[in-house]
Amino acid sequence: MTTMNILIIGSGGREHAMAWKIKQSPLLNQLFIAPGNAGTSLLGTNLQVGVSDFQGLKNAVLDNQIDLVVVGPEVPLCEGLHDFFSDDKQLKNILFVGPHKLGAQLEGSKDFAKEFMMRHHIPTAKYLAVTSDNLNSGIAFLKTLNAPYVLKADGLAAGKGVLIINDLQEAEQSLKEMLNGQFGAASSKVVIEEFLSGIECSVFAITDGKDYRILPVAKDYKRIGEGDTGLNTGGMGAISPVPFADEIFMKKVEDRIIRPTVEGLIEDQIPYNGFIFFGLISCGGEPMVIEYNVRMGDPETEAVMLRIKSDFVDLLVGAAEGTLAEKPIEIDQRTAVAVMLVSGGYPGAYEKGKVIEGLDQIKSSMIFHAGTTQKGGEICTDGGRVLAISSYGENIKQALDLSYQNACQIHFEGMYFRKDLGFDL
Ligand code: AMP
Ligand code: GLY
Repeated sequence: MTTMNILIIGSGGREHAMAWKIKQSPLLNQLFIAPGNAGTSLLGTNLQVGVSDFQGLKNAVLDNQIDLVVVGPEVPLCEGLHDFFSDDKQLKNILFVGPHKLGAQLEGSKDFAKEFMMRHHIPTAKYLAVTSDNLNSGIAFLKTLNAPYVLKADGLAAGKGVLIINDLQEAEQSLKEMLNGQFGAASSKVVIEEFLSGIECSVFAITDGKDYRILPVAKDYKRIGEGDTGLNTGGMGAISPVPFADEIFMKKVEDRIIRPTVEGLIEDQIPYNGFIFFGLISCGGEPMVIEYNVRMGDPETEAVMLRIKSDFVDLLVGAAEGTLAEKPIEIDQRTAVAVMLVSGGYPGAYEKGKVIEGLDQIKSSMIFHAGTTQKGGEICTDGGRVLAISSYGENIKQALDLSYQNACQIHFEGMYFRKDLGFDL
C-alpha cells in the first residue's frame, strides 16, 4: 500500500479533529498542518504558513512532498486556492479537497447560493437580492414580508453578516446601512429573506462532483448563554446525531436537497471536490436550506469525526480523485458531543495567554485545541474558543456528562462553558 503525505490547512478545533482522524489511517505517511495549533503539533508537523499565503503553501507542499491537501476554512477556497493549484504546473496533480473559487461561491455569495437553489428547485426561504441600484424594490419586498426580517450581507463576513430585525422601519434603516458599507464590500449587496421558524441542524456531505457520501448529522449551539441566549459565538458545542433528523427527515434531505445540489453542480458545470455543509432548518419536519458552506462546520467536526468509522483518508482521496463511488462510509452508532471551553468575556473582549492546567488528566474524552499556543513548556489560551472536549456515549446525556466531568478537570483563568447543550432536543 502506498502511503501519503497530507497537509491540512487551518488552525482550529475542526482541523485538530480532522488531524486526529487522519492520523488513524494506514494510508498516512506524514501529517502536516498549516499553520495548526498546539494540539495539532502533537499529531503532526505544524508549518508556519498562513491559510491565504498561496506562495508559502506552494513551497510547503513542494518542500514536504505533499500528496493530498485538505482545506479547513472557507476563506482560502473563496480566494481561489484550488484554482491556484490547478493552474500551477508543479501543483496540479496534487490531490486537493475543497472546491474551486466558482463552487466556493455557494458560501462566498448568498445571492449566488440563492440563485443556485432557485434554479434547481431546492427548498429555501423566499428572497430578493438588493444593491443600491434597486433599494426601492428591496424596501417594497420587505413590506411584503412578515416580521422578523432577515438581512444577509452577500459576501463573507466572518459569520457576522446576518441581521434579524423585528421592526420594519429598523429593517429598512439597517438595509441602507448595510448597503452603505456596514460590512465593507461584503454588504454592497444584501439578500433579504423571509424568516423561517423551526429547529436547525447541520448536514455534511463529501463529494467528488459526481457522487457523494453523507457524513454524520450534527447540531451546534451558537449562543454564549444557556437556553440559547446572549451573543452569537463561533459555536459553544455540538451534538451528533440529532434526534429529530431521523430516517424520514434525512430521506427528505437527501432527495430534496443533497442529490439536487450535486446534480445542480453537474448541470451548471461547476466542478466540486470537497465538503458541502447544508445549514438546514426543519419547518414542521420539512427541511429547508438556510445556507450552504463549502467546508466542515466548527465545532460540529469535533463531534462528527468521532462517528466516522471508515478510513477518512480513503474518503478524502475518493473526493479528490473522483472515485468516491468506490468508497464506503461506515458510521458509528454511538452519540458524540463536543463541549467548547471558552475564555472569560468571549465573544466580547477577553484576555489571552492564560496557562491551561489539567490537560494530562483527561483520559476518557478527546481534547481538540481551538485557540491555544505553546509557551515554554506550557500550553496557554490564544483565542476566544480554547478547547473542545469531545466524548462518546450511548446517548446524549451520557456523552455530555463525560465531557462536563472532564471539563471540570481542566482549568484556566476565566474558563467558561455551557452546561445545557442538548436542552432543546
Ligand atoms: P447564516 O449565516 O445564513 O447561516 O445565518 C446565520 C443564522 O441566522 C442561522 O444559523 C439562522 O439561525 C439565522 N437565519 C438565517 N436565515 C434565516 C431565515 N431565513 N429564517 C430564520 N433564521 C435565519
Ligand atoms: N458551526 C457553524 C459553522 O461552522 O459555520
